[in-house]
Amino acid sequence: MKLPNLTPALLLLPSIPGAYCWGALGHQTVAYIATNFVQADTQTFFQGILNNKTSSYLAGVASWADSFRYTSAGRFSAPFHYIDAEDNPPASCGVRYARDCGEAGCIVAAIQNYTTQLLDPSLDAASLKMAAKFIIHFVGDIHQPLHVENLNMGGNGIHVNFSGTPTNLHHVWDTAIPEKLIGGYSLADAYKWADTLSTSIRSGAYKPLASEWLKGLDLSDPVATSLAWAEESNAYVCTTVLPNGVAGVQSQELSGAYYETAAPVIQLQIARAGYRLARWLDLIAAGVKTDL
Ligand SMILES: *[C@@H]1O[C@H](CO)[C@@H](O)[C@H](O)[C@H]1NC(C)=O
Ligand SMILES: *[C@@H]1O[C@H](CO)[C@@H](O)[C@H](O)[C@H]1NC(C)=O
Ligand SMILES: *[C@@H]1O[C@H](CO)[C@@H](O)[C@H](O)[C@H]1NC(C)=O
Ligand SMILES: [Zn+2]
Repeated sequence: MKLPNLTPALLLLPSIPGAYCWGALGHQTVAYIATNFVQADTQTFFQGILNNKTSSYLAGVASWADSFRYTSAGRFSAPFHYIDAEDNPPASCGVRYARDCGEAGCIVAAIQNYTTQLLDPSLDAASLKMAAKFIIHFVGDIHQPLHVENLNMGGNGIHVNFSGTPTNLHHVWDTAIPEKLIGGYSLADAYKWADTLSTSIRSGAYKPLASEWLKGLDLSDPVATSLAWAEESNAYVCTTVLPNGVAGVQSQELSGAYYETAAPVIQLQIARAGYRLARWLDLIAAGVKTDL
């Protein structure tokens, strides 16, 4: 999703809360799910790096990267939130690292970069903290199908309506559908949503699937690991995001039938992201210990 180089004020953002990437609600929910599943040592490790001993140590920083990208100091990180899969939905979907990861970087390279940094015991505290905040955020973003799609700037250029309000398809996936589903966007809403999804992972509908979600996680190969997440996420562009191409959604109202098919995929992707983030943080914390 290459956004034109505009200042935030110039971007067309129909609603303020969580205006880009999974909105704050999605990112905080991913973070709280991870909080529910990390091991005790992992919690101690990241509470130390993030200098926050509350139960919101991950959720509180989960959408930081979305404000940072619009600052002059953080502009370099804007391309790290996505990978521009140059596929051809809905006829064919697919991600190719060499083709799709641009020279300025991409989400897969960023996950590798900041994972490697977290494993470096010689890194200073400020850089470790930034690396942790990036990982918490990017593992969320990579599970949003339109963060793994080049078409129309990841759907930012596809005009649609949602509940009678003109917006764009990217925003519908980041924010409008999650907020309609949950009925709010506060930290408390994220906490509750994470609780529901965590219960589903432990003992509900997601229980038989969750061990599959952790297959292929390999700390020694963050590119292969995150590319598999990207492939899975991007496949939804063909099946659920644009099953009838751009013409199927352009200028349409998406809060009805479209919402009904998209919302379950969004729930699944948020749950996967949170559960995988927990394991990824576990592997990092254990990896650092082994190195010492
Ligand atoms: C920890 O994070 C929470 C959530 O962002 C915040 O409310 C709290 O003030 C933070 N605590 C410290 C000590 O920074
Ligand atoms: C790796 O992280 C550093 C520090 O934030 C950044 O300057 C660099 O551009 C990153 N590289 C990639 C490939 O993401
Ligand atoms: C989209 O919203 C605009 C402005 O509210 C409205 O004029 C238009 O009829 C809507 N289109 C559909 C398909 O709902
Ligand atoms: Zn983002």
